[in-house]
Amino acid sequence: MKNLVFRALFDNEEIPIDLLKLADPEEQMIRKYIDHSRIFLAELEGFVVGSIVLVDHSSDLIEIKNLAVDIEFQKQKIGTFLLENAINFAKDSGYHEIQIGTGNSSIQQFYLYQKKGFEFSHIKKDWFTNNYQKPIFENGIQCKHLVVFTKDL
Ligand code: ACO
Repeated sequence: MKNLVFRALFDNEEIPIDLLKLADPEEQMIRKYIDHSRIFLAELEGFVVGSIVLVDHSSDLIEIKNLAVDIEFQKQKIGTFLLENAINFAKDSGYHEIQIGTGNSSIQQFYLYQKKGFEFSHIKKDWFTNNYQKPIFENGIQCKHLVVFTKDL
């Protein structure tokens, strides 16, 4: 897409919480990682249309905690653009592995992450049912378990 820019959130810029909530519906869960994360945005002609949030676990491993594209801009390759740029950032920063987790009900995300070279790693059983206040449903399936994918860099 023309004029799509990948950039870090500015120091004085507000966190696009509504966007982040598309990927992680409970703000209290976002608050657990947001203060020690790196936030990047996809900007189209001055408007923020997507975001990706990274948290490092060690000097080797970094995790994508949150990936979201504004509903009106989905299915236009912005999610792919954010993922590709986050992978390049992680590689250029010297990490050796990048991780991403999603719910068992997130069929489209399984497709997207594997297409971008992530491989199935493990499942954290009942992670959503144990950590979220309200049940989450997607594609008519209850989101209960966290499915973790990793990619070597
Ligand atoms: N059903 C099936 N396939 C789809 C759909 C859909 N609804 N939408 C997109 N795709 C396919 C596309 O055809 C494309 O495939 P291709 O490369 O073979 O053509 C591929 O998925 C990627 O499409 P993009 O256009 O790059 O994806 P998009 O910009 O819509 O971003 C995202 C994907 C981030 C998942 C977006 O839909 C979104 O924000 N969803 C809500 C939040 C969310 O679920 N985030 C991820 C949670 S996990 C986490 O945050 C770590």
